[in-house]
Amino acid sequence: MAKVKVGIIGTGYIGGVHAGLLARDERVQLAAVYDVNRECAEKFARAHDAQISDGPAEVIERCDAVYITTPNTQHVAASLAVIEAGKHVFCEKPLATNISDAETVYAKASKSKSVFQVGHNRRFAPVYATLKQLLSDKYTPHSAHVKMNRGELLNPVWTGDASVTGGFLFETPIHMFDMMRFLFGEVESLHAIGSTHEYSETDDFSVLLKFKSGFHATLATAADASWLFPFERVEVFSHHATLVTREMETLVCSTNLQGHFAEQSMQQLPREEKWGYVQEDRAFIDAIVNGTPPPVTALDGLMSVELVNAVYESVRTNSTITPRPVSLLAR
Ligand SMILES: NC(=O)c1ccc[n+]([C@@H]2O[C@H](COP(=O)([O-])OP(=O)(O)OC[C@H]3O[C@@H](n4cnc5c(N)ncnc54)[C@H](O)[C@@H]3O)[C@@H](O)[C@H]2O)c1
Repeated sequence: MAKVKVGIIGTGYIGGVHAGLLARDERVQLAAVYDVNRECAEKFARAHDAQISDGPAEVIERCDAVYITTPNTQHVAASLAVIEAGKHVFCEKPLATNISDAETVYAKASKSKSVFQVGHNRRFAPVYATLKQLLSDKYTPHSAHVKMNRGELLNPVWTGDASVTGGFLFETPIHMFDMMRFLFGEVESLHAIGSTHEYSETDDFSVLLKFKSGFHATLATAADASWLFPFERVEVFSHHATLVTREMETLVCSTNLQGHFAEQSMQQLPREEKWGYVQEDRAFIDAIVNGTPPPVTALDGLMSVELVNAVYESVRTNSTITPRPVSLLAR
């Protein structure tokens, strides 16, 4: 069978992670790469045995599928060009950095026969996949506290520049908005308070969320905290049970009134598997080769953008916001 020719636009950190994993998939040939920084593209092409293209159009022409791994505000134009050419897209998160662009990409992706997958990798991380299974099978969740802190916005250099990220929440915290939908279902309303400290944008948020199911949660996220482990944590409260994740490292379940707990450790897994990158790349190629549905769709990407946008709107207007439901946005 002919190999799936894959291209990569944006040969930085996460492009390298995907290239390394795709090289292990015998169904794939890394055919072309492009970066605005020629030196970066050359180094990458040497490391991953790929050919450099002169621009995104050449990558698209040479490939069946394209990974878009540029900074956030550069995702939309590239996604639309790949869809337009009838090729498959793997777009890193976020899908877009505003509602109108996210809707445009979703509309085009949903009309296309090609696969479109968004890089919300945490869904595949064993801690979160196992937590989801436990919540479906055994522990009906009542409420939760979710947090994701960063120590700074310095690396990569553009992460502190809202004109490139779209705003702090569109960078790493958007993962937790997708995660809350994945674990707890659709959000009915939310109210957020934000404040500004280190950066020239709102960099600390407290959010109260009510879900369609009646479930409720709090989310805390700060860009200027510290790198105290775990930077990311989900605490779920159920009937005399507490389930806690620590980064993508451990899942703790305390299901008694003695305070005893069982800890499942994922620490020994290779990092790319622990973080779900191996599984998401495999699922993307499976969708292309076998016609299986991509597990994180453009609609999921749009819903994350809708939630992040609702938080910014709530902070701006100091009011409770009702994000549009998935039933209204789905075509
Ligand atoms: N899913 C995850 O866990 C995860 C992890 C890291 C990054 N990301 C996302 O991936 C994207 C890239 O992040 P990164 O950490 O790899 O950044 P990076 O800065 O390391 O790499 C981005 C690369 O894109 C290049 N670039 C910029 N504009 C371009 C354009 N218009 N065309 C082609 N190349 C261009 C830059 O020169 C750079 O080499 C971001 O959207 C980020 O949010 C996701």
